[in-house]
Amino acid sequence: MSIQLPPRLMAIVDHINVEDRVADIGSDHGLLPLFLVEERHLTRVYASDNKEGPFNILHKAVMEASLDKQIQVDLADGLKRMPEDINTVVISGMGGDVICDIINNSIDKLDQIKKIILVPHTKADEVRSLMAFYGFSFEDEMVVQEDNHFYEIIVMVPKRHIYCGLELVFGPVNLNQKSASFIKMWRERYERNEKLLSENIDDHRRDQILAEQEKIETLWSKQKF
Ligand SMILES: C[S@@+](CC[C@H](N)C(=O)[O-])C[C@H]1O[C@@H](n2cnc3c(N)ncnc32)[C@H](O)[C@@H]1O
Repeated sequence: MSIQLPPRLMAIVDHINVEDRVADIGSDHGLLPLFLVEERHLTRVYASDNKEGPFNILHKAVMEASLDKQIQVDLADGLKRMPEDINTVVISGMGGDVICDIINNSIDKLDQIKKIILVPHTKADEVRSLMAFYGFSFEDEMVVQEDNHFYEIIVMVPKRHIYCGLELVFGPVNLNQKSASFIKMWRERYERNEKLLSENIDDHRRDQILAEQEKIETLWSKQKF
C-alpha cells in the first residue's frame, strides 16, 4: 500500500537520506516512519509519542504494516529514551514552546545528533534562538502551505554560527531565498495582526502584536519586498 504524505511531511522526507538513523518524536499516526521505511527504504527508525492514545495508533500502524523490525516504537517523553545510535531527529507538529522544552530536557542527547528537522506550529523564532544557542546552524529552511496553514520547516546541523536578531526571527535561509510562500505567510500574518489590533483585545496581547508588526515592518524595509 503506498502512503500519501501531506506536503509538510514530504518536505521533511526530502531532507532525509537512506543511511540516516531517524527519530520521529511525537510521531502520532506514524505516517512519517512508515513512509521512510516503505518508500525510502530506511532500515532504522525510532518513533515515539508521550501519550497513550497516539502511541497506540502508532504501534498498531507499525504492527499492521509488519515493520516492527525497522521501526522501534516507544511511549516516551521527548528525547529522553532516544537510543544512542540515532543521529537524525525530527520533531514536527507541536508548539515551539513544547519543542524548546523537549530540547532543554535532554541537552545530553544533542551530542549524538548530526541533523535535526523541526516544524514548530508556533514560536519558530524561539526554537531558532535556542538551537543557535546550543551550537546548531541552519542548513535549510522552507515555508510549506497546506490549505490555510503555513508550516516552517527548519533543518539544522551541529556547527556554531552567530546570527543576528532578524535572522533568528525569520530564518537566515528564508531571508536569503525569499520564497513566495515565505513572503505570503508574513503578508497574511501582518494583515491578520492589523485586523486583531482593530478589535477589542487585552493590553498584553496588543503589545505582543505591535512588537511583531514592528519586526515585520523592519523585514519589509530591510529586505525591500
Ligand atoms: C499534532 S501531532 C504531530 C504528528 C506528526 N509529527 C506530524 O507532524 O504530523 C503532535 C504529537 O506530539 C506528541 N507530543 C507532544 N509532546 C510530546 C513530548 N514531549 N514527547 C513526545 N511526544 C509528544 C503528541 O502526543 C501528539 O501525538
